[in-house]
Amino acid sequence: MSAPRILAVSAEHPDPDILRSAAQVLRDGGLVAFPTETVYGLGANALDPCAVARIFSAKGRPGFNPVIAHVHTILAAKALVSDWPLAAETLAAAFWPGPLTLVLPKQPHVPDTLTAGAPAVAVRLPSHPVALGLIAAAGLPVAAPSANRSSAVSPTTAQHVARSLGSRVDLILDAGPTGVGIESTVVDLTGSAPRILRPGPIGQAEIEALVGPLDRRAVPRQGEGSLLSPGLLDRHYAPAARVRLFDPAERPMLAAELRGLEAEGRIVGGMLLGDDLPGKHMLRMPDEPAGYARALYAALHQLDDLRCHLIVIEMVPDQILWAGVRDRIVRAATMDPRQG
Ligand code: TXA
Ligand code: MG
Repeated sequence: MSAPRILAVSAEHPDPDILRSAAQVLRDGGLVAFPTETVYGLGANALDPCAVARIFSAKGRPGFNPVIAHVHTILAAKALVSDWPLAAETLAAAFWPGPLTLVLPKQPHVPDTLTAGAPAVAVRLPSHPVALGLIAAAGLPVAAPSANRSSAVSPTTAQHVARSLGSRVDLILDAGPTGVGIESTVVDLTGSAPRILRPGPIGQAEIEALVGPLDRRAVPRQGEGSLLSPGLLDRHYAPAARVRLFDPAERPMLAAELRGLEAEGRIVGGMLLGDDLPGKHMLRMPDEPAGYARALYAALHQLDDLRCHLIVIEMVPDQILWAGVRDRIVRAATMDPRQG
């Protein structure tokens, strides 16, 4: 796999010439990876079905999993949807630009390739200056899933993107590590009450405070009937290594097991909140949710790159503020059914 073209760009004050040349790649139907405040996205012209199809093939993403359209103004979001309810107005006013994605009924001109045939489209107005500048320069809505091969760990640096996608992407804009670290909260506004399809940086309580009670029904997971948000396949955001979650009470038993594995010459890694465990690669994680989210994917990439035999992750507190992080570590630890 040959090396992709990478251009360094300032996160706060991106060079307009660089944004213009990246925008030209998008207008020509190409793929540009760019930073958002959450993770790096793999961008293409959202209104060009061929360009969107290139995203699916570069990621190895199943065609049933729809992609978010990124816009730089609320007006541009409204142009993609056929209904803009009060809840959309309220949530957009409160959280955009920012890590919130809204699912709304789509306009007919929004390609089925983007929505995977669904009658609704996911829209998001990100806050990262590079993302906003790129979308504005392109003059297009930009389709962008996370810039990683399907079901691998999401990228929070340009180097993560380059390692996962290589020359499958035409250009990578490198503005350093992203600030939020986990993907946007996805809220479905097509039902009778708003419903969180994917927990994330904006919490349930913040959303409910503005739009009233949410539809709290659990989102069906893989194998449980229709996929409301098919990206929520069980094993997602996962490294190649075996990942196991543990409760603090299991520490003594786990310590013995890890000592045994190390004695056999196995590489073990860990992401810990509490006391240390045996092993050279035990990473201490921040003990508050925003800091943990920012560090999470870089830690998983780091341990995965060591070719760990086993990665142990200490369970985070069972509190709603931790819902986004908890969701990602549970998914990282879920075995792929294809691997038994
Ligand atoms: O923070 C983010 O959201 C990042 C950055 C790049 O913006 N993007 C991201 O995209 O995480 P992706 O494709 O990795 O995840 C998008 C999620 C998936 O779970 C997908 O199934 C869901 O949003 N989604 C997209 N379009 C949808 C639609 N029309 N209806 C329901 N769910 C949708
Ligand atoms: Mg993703």
